[in-house]
Amino acid sequence: MPNPAVNAGTSIAISALSHEFSGKRVLEDIHLRVPAGTTLALLGPSGCGKSTLLKLLAGLLRPSRGEIHFGERLMAGHAVNILPEQRDIGMVFQDYALWPHMSVAQNVDFPLRMRRVARAERRLRVDTALARVGLAEFAARKPSELSGGQQQRVALARAIVAEPRVLLFDEPLSNLDRELRETLCAEMARLLRQLAITAVYVTHDRGEAQQLAQHIAHMAQGRIVNYHAV
Ligand SMILES: Nc1ncnc2c1ncn2[C@@H]1O[C@H](COP(=O)(O)OP(=O)(O)OP(=O)(O)O)[C@@H](O)[C@H]1O
Ligand SMILES: [Mg+2]
Repeated sequence: MPNPAVNAGTSIAISALSHEFSGKRVLEDIHLRVPAGTTLALLGPSGCGKSTLLKLLAGLLRPSRGEIHFGERLMAGHAVNILPEQRDIGMVFQDYALWPHMSVAQNVDFPLRMRRVARAERRLRVDTALARVGLAEFAARKPSELSGGQQQRVALARAIVAEPRVLLFDEPLSNLDRELRETLCAEMARLLRQLAITAVYVTHDRGEAQQLAQHIAHMAQGRIVNYHAV
């Protein structure tokens, strides 16, 4: 099993990326690079295109123009659009998106089963991921028996369990109250540094962006209007 502490992820390169929904341009000529092992925060007002950009990175949408590379590999562009399950990504959404009928351990195990990882290794990896997010004792619970913060930790464990090359976050803390948001933000910042996975983190919250990311891209009306190091 690869050691996540030395898995520095992969760089992301976005070039000349545009996206339209039924003729309406929502992303315009985006150029961005995320160095391997670092986190980029996407910050901007509602409707500016943050989630659309994240979905293009995930392969849930196909760009109208431009290219996305993970490392040397072309993910989207020039008649290429690699399927989400073949991009080696983990995702965490605002609404957790856990399977309600599965236990915590089964939820976290799901990406490993999809990748046909052997049972003994799966058990080890699920235990490791749950321990990393502080949920070792909750393995047998159902999501409905957890608080919002605990559910989001499960989603985080599920996103990292397969040691993806890229982690994508879409406002993962915005459903939680302030105190919990601050605690989880600090824990995620620590985890992201420990794992050194390449990540893109969408948020409305400047403080979150500064705590989690090495670089911040500010978006407005489908464009990057500012980019700076933290
Ligand atoms: N499937 C879709 N079909 C048509 N228009 C869409 C679709 N998804 C998003 N849009 C439009 O694209 C624009 C960007 O939406 P997006 O969800 O990327 O914004 P956002 O920055 O994530 O906003 P928020 O902070 O509210 O989540 C918006 O004008 C939105 O209405
Ligand atoms: Mg959004």
